[in-house]
Amino acid sequence: MSEAVTTASESSQGNLGGREQWSSRLVFILAATGSAVGLGNIWKFPYITGENGGGAFVLVYLLCIAAIGIPIMMAEIMLGRRGRQDPVSTMKKLAQESGHSRSWGLLGWMGVIAGFLILSYYSVIAGWAMAYVPRMASGVFTGMDSAAVNNVFAELVSNPEVLITWHSLFLFMTMAVVARGVRGGLEKAVTYLMPMLFVLLLILIFYAIGTGHFEQGLQYLFTPDFSKITTEGILSAMGHAFFTLSLGMGAIMVYGSYLPPGTSIAKASIAVACMDTLVAIMAGMIIFPIVFANALEPSAGPGLIFKTLPLAFSHMDYGRFFGTLFFLLLVFAAWTSSISLIEPAITWAMKTFQITRIKAAVISGGLVWFAGLLTVFSFNLTSELTITSTISTQYGEFVILKDATAFDFLDYLTSNIMLPLGGLLIAVYAGWLMKKEYSREELNVNRFWYTIWSLLVRFVAPIMVVIVFLNAMGVVAFIRTMYGSFGF
Ligand code: PHE
Repeated sequence: MSEAVTTASESSQGNLGGREQWSSRLVFILAATGSAVGLGNIWKFPYITGENGGGAFVLVYLLCIAAIGIPIMMAEIMLGRRGRQDPVSTMKKLAQESGHSRSWGLLGWMGVIAGFLILSYYSVIAGWAMAYVPRMASGVFTGMDSAAVNNVFAELVSNPEVLITWHSLFLFMTMAVVARGVRGGLEKAVTYLMPMLFVLLLILIFYAIGTGHFEQGLQYLFTPDFSKITTEGILSAMGHAFFTLSLGMGAIMVYGSYLPPGTSIAKASIAVACMDTLVAIMAGMIIFPIVFANALEPSAGPGLIFKTLPLAFSHMDYGRFFGTLFFLLLVFAAWTSSISLIEPAITWAMKTFQITRIKAAVISGGLVWFAGLLTVFSFNLTSELTITSTISTQYGEFVILKDATAFDFLDYLTSNIMLPLGGLLIAVYAGWLMKKEYSREELNVNRFWYTIWSLLVRFVAPIMVVIVFLNAMGVVAFIRTMYGSFGF
């Protein structure tokens, strides 16, 4: 904590034009971790792993974190710190600085929209977690079997009024922090509550060990069976790498814009990615043993943690206490992520319309609230209203979306398309278009590491993203078959 202690008032006299700054690198790491660690790790990672058959999916996901996620995170933080503005203006400014078109601002725009759409459903799911706090605390789950626990979940999501109430409350909490500026409250809260969440996960791992199905859970997570993974599975593993690290939409860019000069972007990125991955893997190590111990389906979908964890709490000592604490901390983790989801839109609106932070928060909060209704109704009133979209070629049928509700569609559009596309453009910009002297100056690592980063961000990451996209559209299968039909 010793370095770069800059207060907001100091920086306003400094060279940053009054822009807020984190008070140290540690605080930046905590805030970025707060953004990264959220529902993505504890709610989404286990259920999409279960939907995609386990080990092979996890392996692809880990590979994407290492080869795509970390280099792009460095690129995104770097652009943010150099631009020091909202994502749209940052991209315009940097493009100009290196002699390129101002239409790079569109990248920032896509991020603002992605963040907005993600928050609309994120807030509803965080509302589920909130709804579980009083249920845990009042002992609703005590002694319940898995059918009864399933019922509690089914009942919750079938009731739009209840979902709307929690969604509203969560969104209000998010906007209240955003309206005040992200620095003050967030810094302190993240410092204490994140480590607590971590300790609680450790306690749950001990419980999972005691279920007698721990090994089976580990095997499910870590033994890749490639026959189980599909092209869509690969796309969602990659999409999730972006989602879980908060990449590709400007959240980390905006946080990077508050980063004091001179702090190491590489170390910070690696630290954040490691902590984020650790939390996800821990969540998997908790959920799957419980799934197997209770003969549940790993592919239960978005309700997975809500159907499994209460079972664990209902059977452990002090389960009511730990369960309440767990869902509280999950809400908290979601809260620190949701703040970063809307921050790009807020900074952009403040600048574009010359309005105050409070006004920007009220307006965008209202819009997100309405958009969230789509997700609320996806689980009840409009659950039958689904779309299926396939591309069929003579080389096979490629399912883009199957029986997708509005929620599934939003999730697919944002995680599997918008974030990777945003990340791809960030990589291309940082690796190919930004002047080398600038990226070298910002990253400030030795020649060896700069070269590695540069290779990853110029070649590996963009090529991987493009291949995964093409693969999901069936283009790769098409080329392979063509190749085969020429007798190679
Ligand atoms: N990374 C967050 C999570 O895992 C979600 C998020 C995505 C936050 C994109 C900001 C930007 O829950």
